[in-house]
Amino acid sequence: PEPLKVLGKRKGLNVGNAIGGRWFRDPAYKALMARECNMLVAENEGKWQALEPRPGEYQFEAADAMYAWARQQGMLVRGHNLIWQDAKWLPKWVNEYDFGAQPAQAAEALLRKHIVTVCDHFGGIIHSYDVVNEAVDPASGALRANVFTQHLGAVEQIDLAFRVAREHAPGAQLVYNDYMRADEGSTKHREGVLKLLHALKSRGTPVHALGLQSHIGSWDEVSSGSQHQRVWRQFLDEVTGMGLDLLVTEFDVNDRKLPADVTARDAGVAALAKDYLDVTFSYPQCRDFLMWGMADHASWLQEWKEAPRTDGLPMRPTPFDDHLRAKPLRD
Ligand code: XIL
Repeated sequence: PEPLKVLGKRKGLNVGNAIGGRWFRDPAYKALMARECNMLVAENEGKWQALEPRPGEYQFEAADAMYAWARQQGMLVRGHNLIWQDAKWLPKWVNEYDFGAQPAQAAEALLRKHIVTVCDHFGGIIHSYDVVNEAVDPASGALRANVFTQHLGAVEQIDLAFRVAREHAPGAQLVYNDYMRADEGSTKHREGVLKLLHALKSRGTPVHALGLQSHIGSWDEVSSGSQHQRVWRQFLDEVTGMGLDLLVTEFDVNDRKLPADVTARDAGVAALAKDYLDVTFSYPQCRDFLMWGMADHASWLQEWKEAPRTDGLPMRPTPFDDHLRAKPLRD
């Protein structure tokens, strides 16, 4: 079969994958990725926690090695992410940082220093950055609080992050990335994201695109004629109406609600994916498709224990199986 990147090229799409350190040391997995993809994102190695585990101690080696390999293979590189608004995923030392007597200045200085250091280090090799990740609380639709929003204001801080990124990564596409879905349970989340994007647009923030994480599942299926599909189109219409581009940044299919039988399960996963990708790629503004792991054993969902399968079986969320054989989702 033709590699995904060749199929993608025909449709004007880039095809990418998030690779984690463990799989970066696995020659077979890397070979699969090199064959199928023309874009790479580091699964964890580009996050603040990984780049600066202790204040001032930068560790760029892991990300540098991945990006250098990607470039040797002729791949584009995405940076993920400059600021993760969910305090749980900021470095502990950032959450505990002493902002002193002039906390707003100190918070701005810390935020700037991080973005400037990272963007300057990687320079022009980053094609696209997730500047801000997951700023909206899915339950309420409000902006999440963290040490930066506390001292700078939430919209102000997000705006600042984009402006600093713009100055120090002038050639890169700047993306706001989040995991809103098409279903009823995600209504507040979608509304919150739209509100944020409108606020940024009206301030003239240099934001170019919305990253659709696209960790999909049976609960947000968007089959034709469904209410979910209408809702998803409405959402994407409004985003593209603001002049923003779209990217699928972290695609996988959670099969928690699908039957144990592998044949039925893989068919279900492929059907969910087809409906979702058909709708989403019907927007010419959407030209990037990135998987969050491309073989089942390499998927973060195997270790994400918040909502495992009730039968305890490993999930089958990606286009290739544990032996790197193509599954129905691939075709
Ligand atoms: C996940 C990684 O896959 C895990 O290895 C890590 O433990 C936690 O983060 N949304 C994102 C990604 O933006 O950064 C997350 O990646 C998955 C959800």
